[in-house]
Amino acid sequence: MSEPRPSGPRPRVLSGIRPTGAGFQLGNYLGAVRHWAAMQDEADCFFFLADLHALTDVPDPAHLRARTRESAAELLAMGVDPARSTVFAQSHIREHAELGWILGCLTGFGEASRMTQFKDKGGSSSSGASVGLFTYPVLQAADILMYQAASVPIGEDQRQHLELTRDLAQRFNARYGDTFAVPGPYVGKDGARIKDLQDPTRKMSKSIGGNGTLWVLDAPEVLTKKIKSAVTDTGREVRVDIAEKAGVSNLLTILSVVTERPLDALEADFAGKGYGDLKGAVAEAVVAEFAPVRKRYAELVADPAELDRLLAVGAGRAREVAVATMAAVRERVGLLAPQP
Ligand code: TYM
Repeated sequence: MSEPRPSGPRPRVLSGIRPTGAGFQLGNYLGAVRHWAAMQDEADCFFFLADLHALTDVPDPAHLRARTRESAAELLAMGVDPARSTVFAQSHIREHAELGWILGCLTGFGEASRMTQFKDKGGSSSSGASVGLFTYPVLQAADILMYQAASVPIGEDQRQHLELTRDLAQRFNARYGDTFAVPGPYVGKDGARIKDLQDPTRKMSKSIGGNGTLWVLDAPEVLTKKIKSAVTDTGREVRVDIAEKAGVSNLLTILSVVTERPLDALEADFAGKGYGDLKGAVAEAVVAEFAPVRKRYAELVADPAELDRLLAVGAGRAREVAVATMAAVRERVGLLAPQP
């Protein structure tokens, strides 16, 4: 049996993003993809488009197909480099669904019911939510364990899914023998919980959209307009106070992460200034950050054949690992090997 674990000195990193909505939003970038791009030299990175997970929203088929390819361009434009990282579409590796099934057989119904994302999306046994939405975290565990990832860079909202993944890895290893690496989350200190600009009590999200969501590919004037109309509060002071000043705190966090300037230094910069000054600075920083991404995206998306080729190269590399993992898994759980 071939050995599925990575043997090189670089730790294995894996993460995924759903090709849903109109594109990727600022939270995806600050909470996840920014870290992916920064890790590519020190880690053996696997990044994928979670198109099977996207199906839980039941998207229009043509839109999903187009969005998957465009999402690849968007990831590359944000700095993910297919020469250094393995970039692929989840559905191109059939083993994900197979491992998802096997792990589902080790997941308790109550355990899956406690996942907050399921509840946040309106899931309950009486709500008409799909079984796919219910087992979403189990498929996510399969994505991660398949590649023996040591570290998974994600935003704060995905922490609970990572906990389930760790539990499933340990349970499988205890029952069938050491098979999976037990992964740890990588949640950035700042930017892991970017809020909606119109309602700073909830997270910015692809599915909400509207004026509270900053799309990575928004035109500069659109970004500026949305930031200038962000909800703040009736006070004047520019300081971090999540309870009293959720909107201002969110804008300061965005500015701090994008400019790499600590929050206390920013508070000092804005002493005696007002919310208009803060919004102006945030708009300038976000526009400057995304202008090169937008330009690069336009170039990449103009060549769909090249994007498909890059995804095929990535799938080839991913498949090698997935096939080795599944050979070990099938043998350990007791599935009779088919005769060639
Ligand atoms: P998705 O597409 O919803 O989100 C992709 C990544 O963006 C992060 N994120 C945020 N971070 C900070 N602030 C926000 N407002 C914000 N919104 C989103 C998410 O935490 C995530 O890291 N379930 C995953 C997709 C997935 C996956 C995996 C991830 C499928 N299989 C395996 C890691 C490993 C998700 O939430 O995608």
